[in-house]
Amino acid sequence: MSTLSTSLPGGTWTLGDLTVTRFGYGAMQLAGPGVMGPPADRDGALAVLREAVDLGITHIDTAGAYGPRVTNQLIRQALHPYPGSLHIVTKVGAARDQQGGWPPARDPESLRRFVSENIEDLGLEVLDVVNLRLGNAQGPQPGSLAEPFETLAGLQRQGLIRHLGVSNVTAEQVAEAQAIAPIVCVQNGYNLAYRQDDKLIDALAEQGIAYVPFFPLGGFSPLQSQALSAVAARHDATPIAVALAWLLQRSPNILLIPGTSSAAHLRENAAGAGLSLSEEDLAELDKFGR
Ligand SMILES: NC(=O)c1ccc[n+]([C@@H]2O[C@H](COP(=O)([O-])OP(=O)(O)OC[C@H]3O[C@@H](n4cnc5c(N)ncnc54)[C@H](OP(=O)(O)O)[C@@H]3O)[C@@H](O)[C@H]2O)c1
Repeated sequence: MSTLSTSLPGGTWTLGDLTVTRFGYGAMQLAGPGVMGPPADRDGALAVLREAVDLGITHIDTAGAYGPRVTNQLIRQALHPYPGSLHIVTKVGAARDQQGGWPPARDPESLRRFVSENIEDLGLEVLDVVNLRLGNAQGPQPGSLAEPFETLAGLQRQGLIRHLGVSNVTAEQVAEAQAIAPIVCVQNGYNLAYRQDDKLIDALAEQGIAYVPFFPLGGFSPLQSQALSAVAARHDATPIAVALAWLLQRSPNILLIPGTSSAAHLRENAAGAGLSLSEEDLAELDKFGR
């Protein structure tokens, strides 16, 4: 197992046999408006990715559906050949339509094609971690994941994927996946205001499985609350710093992948997430979330 020391807040976590910084980067915001097409400022997008690596971040979250394929190609252009410590986590299970929608695409043929496109666009021979993304924009939806997850487990046995994860799933679907093949992470929507996965996070922590919240800052609708602003003001910090620091303190298996298209915001977030929240802060923030 590789060892990695980091000055980033939160230290490190190990996904299977891959050590990553708990403070990571979510690359979705790098594509064009609506996560479609190229970014308006291509050099700016490449600079954000290089900044992530310069800061010591070793976990980048992406998906072939971003752009589609645009974000992965940006990652390759900015960072290939990759530092040995960098691990890229991708996801499959949704396509894109002409309107910018995210229709599900989980049949075996689509999943095989997505894995092969991710390999090609990222310039890799093996993908470090692939999440099967289920549900829809409203969140997880009940139903069996056996067929698509077995397809991914088959691609893992073929040597195309190191580790598997699941995304936008219910606790039942997590258990169903684990009965098929080991998983190293669950990526679901979660933040200070949206805490439906509290029990799941604790259960995964006991099993040594990472929980990776998407929309840690509220996604397309930024987090806002009096409690958040009050705690931020007490620390002379931003609400964003408080929201990230709260996640790092919430549980050791939480990995951060805040998104940004700005190198300055990335630096600000990497510093801000290190804020130390007191018991009083946590109690006040807890009321906001429940
Ligand atoms: N599995 C899934 O279904 C799924 C779904 C959604 C997202 N994801 C993943 O999760 C990652 C995180 O989610 P997200 O990017 O959608 O949402 P997010 O991290 O909650 O929020 C990103 C938004 O916050 C803004 N922001 C970030 N830092 C800021 C700062 N310091 N000051 C002001 N604004 C700031 C960004 O704007 P600027 O660009 O201006 O900084 C952006 O609009 C994504 O990048 C993606 O990798 C996964």
